[in-house]
Amino acid sequence: MTHDPTDLAAEIQRLCALSGIKWSRYPKGTLAAWVADMDLPTAPVITEALRGLVERADFGYNFSAHQQLPSAWAEWMERRHGWRPEEARVRVVTDVLQAVDLALMFGTRPGDSVVLLTPVYPPFFRTVTGIGRRIVDCPLEPGTWRLDVERLEACIDSSTRCVLLCSPHNPTGRVFSAEELEAIAEVAERHDLLVISDEIWADVVYSGAKHIPFAKVAEGRDVRWVMAHAASKAFNLAGLRCAMAYFGDAEIEKRISELPAHMLGSVSAPGALATLTAFTEGEPWLAETVAFLEEQRDYLVGRLRAELPEAGVTMPEATYLAWADLRAYELGDDPAAVLLERAQVALGSGPDFGQHGKGFARINFATSRVVLGEVVGRVVDAVRR
Ligand SMILES: Cc1ncc(COP(=O)(O)O)c(C=O)c1O
Repeated sequence: MTHDPTDLAAEIQRLCALSGIKWSRYPKGTLAAWVADMDLPTAPVITEALRGLVERADFGYNFSAHQQLPSAWAEWMERRHGWRPEEARVRVVTDVLQAVDLALMFGTRPGDSVVLLTPVYPPFFRTVTGIGRRIVDCPLEPGTWRLDVERLEACIDSSTRCVLLCSPHNPTGRVFSAEELEAIAEVAERHDLLVISDEIWADVVYSGAKHIPFAKVAEGRDVRWVMAHAASKAFNLAGLRCAMAYFGDAEIEKRISELPAHMLGSVSAPGALATLTAFTEGEPWLAETVAFLEEQRDYLVGRLRAELPEAGVTMPEATYLAWADLRAYELGDDPAAVLLERAQVALGSGPDFGQHGKGFARINFATSRVVLGEVVGRVVDAVRR
């Protein structure tokens, strides 16, 4: 097993000593199962590479990892996902949302509307409205979280310019099928919509499911698209700020190229090195980690289904997040708020994921069995209370 401490108090003490937001936001004694960071240390090859920088105090201007990233990422995408980006067009950005912001900024105009397949990753809402675009809320099929193509079609009007896709999908853990992605591509082509595909979860996919990059589906179609990806979720590197962007739409790419050189900032040497090491040497660790996460997923969903039979818990096909429908237990619109109070467990708050998230909570299961067991135990007790 990848991360198997047995002493709950010692493990919580280790986690609380970390400086990230996950374990420091809530009062002492609260178990953190909210933000999408893992409690597992990253791959030792990455820690070793970063240790090298620190030991040499190697902090001067340094673009060497940065320059190697486009080809390393191209190989990663081809090997794992069957699509090879054109290296010259790959951009290294600080984070996935920067790529999404750029695509929205240059691919749509003020007042245009953008389709979100809800419930969805909360920052998407602000990303769209923050630059004066409007949200079209297109709910996935409740329970199965499949795309309803007729509903998507019905959501589109003359102001619609874009579909902002989260694939695989946070918070439901869905891996969209080829048919669903084809349907989105077909609708986008017919209505001339830009598709922005956030594929940050592409590498945390469980047995039986297969992630398909939107780029593959778009091939041979007259559809404009942008994709963003990162090693940060799969390798637990979110604080290092490094992501990959591919502006499949030539006009957007051109507009970005015309920006002043330093306007977008740039990725730090540690961020680039960690990401490069993930793509070049991290695959064996990732395979083990995804297998471990799959066991955690099965344990969590199994226990919730057995001990809270009225809850609707979808089995995630990807991500380390479980989306739980707790409406039957009458905990109000925001069960996470009630559970924080009653059980000292911090979960993701359902309503943050859109209006269809009322009565739901998101549980991060990327932790050791000893912590996850305590999280589930507290949630179950508090819900039954
Ligand atoms: C779907 C999705 N996109 C983007 C992000 C954030 O990525 P970044 O920090 O690279 O912007 C997350 C983080 O959990 C996510 O789940």
